[in-house]
Amino acid sequence: MILIAKTFAGCEDILCEELEALGAENVRPLTRAVEFEGDLALMYKANLHCRTALRILKPYATFEASDEEMLYNEIQNIDWTSLFTLDQTFAINTTLNLSNLTHSQYVSLKAKDAIVDQFRDKYDDRPNVDIDQPDLRIHLHIYQNVCTLSFDSSGESLHKRGYRDYTNQAPINEALAAALVIKSGWDKKNSLADFMCGSGTILIEAAMIMRNIAPNKYKSFFGFQTWKDYDAELWKQIYSDAIKNELPASETMIYGSDISGVVLDKAKENIMNAGLEDSIKLKKGSFEKFKKPTETGTLICNPPYGLRIEPKDILDMYQRMGDTMKQQCKGWTCWIFTGNLEVAKFIGLRTTRKLLLYNGPIECRYLRFDIYDGSKKKPKQIDEGEINQETN
Ligand SMILES: C[S@@+](CC[C@H](N)C(=O)[O-])C[C@H]1O[C@@H](n2cnc3c(N)ncnc32)[C@H](O)[C@@H]1O
Repeated sequence: MILIAKTFAGCEDILCEELEALGAENVRPLTRAVEFEGDLALMYKANLHCRTALRILKPYATFEASDEEMLYNEIQNIDWTSLFTLDQTFAINTTLNLSNLTHSQYVSLKAKDAIVDQFRDKYDDRPNVDIDQPDLRIHLHIYQNVCTLSFDSSGESLHKRGYRDYTNQAPINEALAAALVIKSGWDKKNSLADFMCGSGTILIEAAMIMRNIAPNKYKSFFGFQTWKDYDAELWKQIYSDAIKNELPASETMIYGSDISGVVLDKAKENIMNAGLEDSIKLKKGSFEKFKKPTETGTLICNPPYGLRIEPKDILDMYQRMGDTMKQQCKGWTCWIFTGNLEVAKFIGLRTTRKLLLYNGPIECRYLRFDIYDGSKKKPKQIDEGEINQETN
C-alpha cells in the first residue's frame, strides 16, 4: 500500500533515509512529506521508529471536489459504516491549497455532515466527533480541486512521544530535535552537549538515538489501534523486537545545562520519564560557565531567538555564545539552531555549514561551527546562496 509520512520542511531527506532503513519501497520526497510503499507491518514500524515523522497517513480515496456539493457526494460514496461503528468517534482535518473551496473548517463540517447523514440513513443514529482523541482521524487534502482522503494511522502527532508534558515555555518539537541530532552527523561515540538545554528535548532525542530506543516507545495510543484491520499480534511482535534491539547505557555521556533551575527540574523529570538517567548529566549554570567534558564532541543548542528579550541583550548573548564556543569548545563541532537570522551573525565564528529549516512557521538556520584555534572572525552576513546549496 502507498503511505505518506508528514514531516517538517527541510527534513524530507532524513525521513527518506529513516523509511528506507525500515524497508520501505519506492520512497519519494514530497513537500513536508515523504511518499512510500509498504505493508501493515511497515506502517506500524514507521509509527514506532521514525524520529522525524509527524504522522503516517494512509490515502484511501482521491476525487475531484471543486464545490461543496461534489465534496458531499463523493464523501457519501464511501461506505463509512464498513470503516467504523456507531459507538466510535471521528474527526476531520482539512488542508486546502489552490482550490475553489477556501475555508478548511467549512470543508471539514461538510464532510462531517456527509458521514453523519450516511449513518443516520442506515441506523437512525450517528457517531460522535471527538477532536482530541478520535477513533478515526480523517485527513482531507485538497490541492487544485483534487481531494485526497486519508486515514491517520498515528492518531496524535508522533512528536508527542509520551515522555514530557506540554506546560513549559519554549520546548523544541521532539521530531525537530531528533532532526537536529541526525543532521549534525554526531557519531554517537563522542560526547554530546546542549548548554541551553531547557526541558532537555535535544538531550533525550540524542540519547534515544544513541541507545537505539524507538522514539515512540512510550506513546500510549496510535490511530491504527482502533482500525478494523488492527493486528494486535503483529504490533506486539514489532514492539517487542524494538525493545530487544535497545542498547544499554555506554561510556558516552550526554551533557545538558541551563541557567534556569525550574526548567532543569522539568528536564530531569522528562529524562526520568524516558528512562535515560544513565546517559544524561545535567548541571545548572549559564552557558558561559560551560567546560567541555571531553576533548572532542558535538554541541547542539537551540538558544532563545530573542522574541521576548531586548534587542541589545539578545545580540550580546549571541556574541557571548560565540566567545564561549571559541574559548571552551576547541576540538568540538558546534551547531546552533536559531530563528533570529539577524543576530546569528553576531556569533562571529566561521560557519562550515548552514542549513535551512523551519520551526513551525519560523524560518530558521542550523549553523555549524568547527572550533579550532583561529575560528574567530569578523561578524559576516549569512550567505543565502550557500544555504540553498546545502539544502538543495
Ligand atoms: C529556546 S529554549 C531551549 C529549549 C530546549 N531546546 C527545550 O527543548 O526545552 C532556551 C533556553 O535557554 C536558557 N537560557 C537563557 N539564557 C541562558 C544562559 N545565559 N545560560 C544558559 N541557559 C540560558 C533558557 O532558560 C531556556 O531554557
